[in-house]
Amino acid sequence: MVDNKWKEKGYVDEPLPQNVDLKSEIRQMCHEKNAVIMAHYYTEGVVQDVADFVGDSLALAQKAAQTDADIIVMCGVHFMGETAKILCPSKKVIVPDLNATCSLAESCPAEDFARFVADHPGHTVISYVNTTAATKAVTDVVVTSSNARQIVESFPKDTPMIFGPDRNLGNYINSITGRSMVLWDGCCHVHEKFSLEKILELKKQHPDAKVLVHPECKGAVVKLADKVGSTAALLKYSIEDSAQTFIVATESGILHEMKKACPQKTFIPAPPEDGSCACNECNYMKLVTLQKIYNSLKHEWPSIEVDAEVAKKAVVSIERMLEISEKLGI
Ligand code: 13P
Ligand code: SF4
Repeated sequence: MVDNKWKEKGYVDEPLPQNVDLKSEIRQMCHEKNAVIMAHYYTEGVVQDVADFVGDSLALAQKAAQTDADIIVMCGVHFMGETAKILCPSKKVIVPDLNATCSLAESCPAEDFARFVADHPGHTVISYVNTTAATKAVTDVVVTSSNARQIVESFPKDTPMIFGPDRNLGNYINSITGRSMVLWDGCCHVHEKFSLEKILELKKQHPDAKVLVHPECKGAVVKLADKVGSTAALLKYSIEDSAQTFIVATESGILHEMKKACPQKTFIPAPPEDGSCACNECNYMKLVTLQKIYNSLKHEWPSIEVDAEVAKKAVVSIERMLEISEKLGI
């Protein structure tokens, strides 16, 4: 029974039993319930460490589509849970805290986006995965930062296109593909804040450091990059490149996996403009805690539901992304 108090809060706030070893209890429940835990690189290190799989948005969608578990615990933000639920309608998909939304997805309300689409007849609609299911339902193909370039390039050069909601990613893809997609004017509150000046200062202090940048950052920051890419692409580069020091301009949770993979290398989180802290965190991703994972698995709530009509349309644009990605070997 789901308590009304939990419904109001958006997560189960039951106190934990005394002296409980959360990690082993969570793993035991996964075993008993045939549940799988998937986590994004931006979640807390302890959350990544309890997960069966850690990945970027594309890999999380791909893994969700393939799993034979009965329950998927998606440790990330709401749209990641929705995507998994749309791909696996018969499974229970749990997001441990429903308040874990995404500023970028929220910068693109579905009704407004549908009007924008209607104002551009004949345009192919490309949407970043950081959107609600309802926005995906008015989209032709979903992309992530791992496959946006290749998917855009899979259309003939003269195809009129709309890209939403991230203007920074859209501008970046336009610049590297020579396209002129019409852009929705949205952004992520975390990536928008990286400071060009502070990264330049860090470069002076660490002249041999390579700069790793997520394409949701502003164009001026992207220009400084030695590598622009999705979280998975930045992690891979940091492992394979011979540099010993990296300045990382994306959410700082990714440093957990980078340090684990390369304990001998130095990773410096790029700071935000306002100087309030040394790194830049996504407050939504950080809502996922071990306690919430434990309680959500125990009560199998909060689980994601997607309106059937919305899901029927959204699944087409998500599956198109997965099909093109598979064909291109991404
Ligand atoms: P990735 O797809 O690169 O993991 O990015 C997801 C995200 O939310 C970036 O802010
Ligand atoms: Fe959304 Fe930005 Fe958080 Fe990524 S970092 S989940 S785009 S708010």
